[in-house]
Amino acid sequence: MSRSEDMIIQYLNEAHATELALVSTLRAHIAMTPEGSYRSLLDDHLDVTRRQADRLERRLAELGVGKSLVQTGVGAFQSLLGQVLALGKGPIDLLRGGGGEEKLLKNAKDECATEALEIATYDALEQVALELADEVTAELAADHRAEEEEMLAGLREEIPHLARDAVGAEVYGRKAYATSEVGAVHAAEEAAEAASRAASSLAGGAAQQAEGAARKVTSTAKEARRVPGVEAVEGEARGTVASEDDLPLADYDSLKAGEIVERLPRLSQVELAQVDAYERRHGNRKTILSKIDSLQGDAPWAGYDEQNAEEIESRVRDADDDEAREVREYERRHKARKGVLEAAERAVTTS
Ligand SMILES: [Fe+2]
Repeated sequence: MSRSEDMIIQYLNEAHATELALVSTLRAHIAMTPEGSYRSLLDDHLDVTRRQADRLERRLAELGVGKSLVQTGVGAFQSLLGQVLALGKGPIDLLRGGGGEEKLLKNAKDECATEALEIATYDALEQVALELADEVTAELAADHRAEEEEMLAGLREEIPHLARDAVGAEVYGRKAYATSEVGAVHAAEEAAEAASRAASSLAGGAAQQAEGAARKVTSTAKEARRVPGVEAVEGEARGTVASEDDLPLADYDSLKAGEIVERLPRLSQVELAQVDAYERRHGNRKTILSKIDSLQGDAPWAGYDEQNAEEIESRVRDADDDEAREVREYERRHKARKGVLEAAERAVTTS
């Protein structure tokens, strides 16, 4: 590879890492954003960002950079992006506390900062490419920059509305932010509807399973006691920028697929999503991904995965029939602790 290609690749890699990190951030933000013009803007830009990441990857491939090399950029770049974006534990904290209006406003400001960083990234990439007579890359950079400029303008149009809502909530006690309309909850309701539809066209056990899932998700979404999907979004966001040391399974890279599959049921939903995102970026092994898929789904209640057997047993003793069944099913598929299973079984038969 020539010196000039090296340099173009370096700048392409940086742009690619930014887009990938932004996919995670946008998903986390969408999960906490109620429907409306601001949500649509985020939804649309998530699609744009994914396309941009693909196009960058294809350009890198044309320049002879393989997939595994492309992705090494992510870890190195996350710290810079981390300074701009507050990824942290956003959605869960938010939905447990108040102040959703202000959180949305803060998200929008962070997104503006990210877009400005992207615009500058593409300014630099375009000029580097032009200097080195790579017109294909220069055109790509200009196209992407135009899309980021459009997003930045869209965000700036939303900010006055979001600020008005924040004042309304903080000063005048007018709540504009309804937890029930939040993206994650809404997605859960859509999933429930889809599951219901699927259930009516399926037969036997599969139908029952789908109906059970639909019931569970619907009641949850209505009550907004917990927020389905947030754990997965959070885990995925963490996994996208994780290195091997951050993973919940020690020495992950040296474990065989079978060894990983065997250990997966012990992991929480956040950890499963984290491993899933990591595995997709690295080995991308089918056996592992499909096992994770079979284990993913909401725990019987928020915080279940983090509770010990004693805490779960004490709650399940007073649980209604539905909840006790949920505990039994979930526990069977995951940690399968004897005491928990017995307590759930007793609660099912006595309620
Ligand atoms: Fe972008």
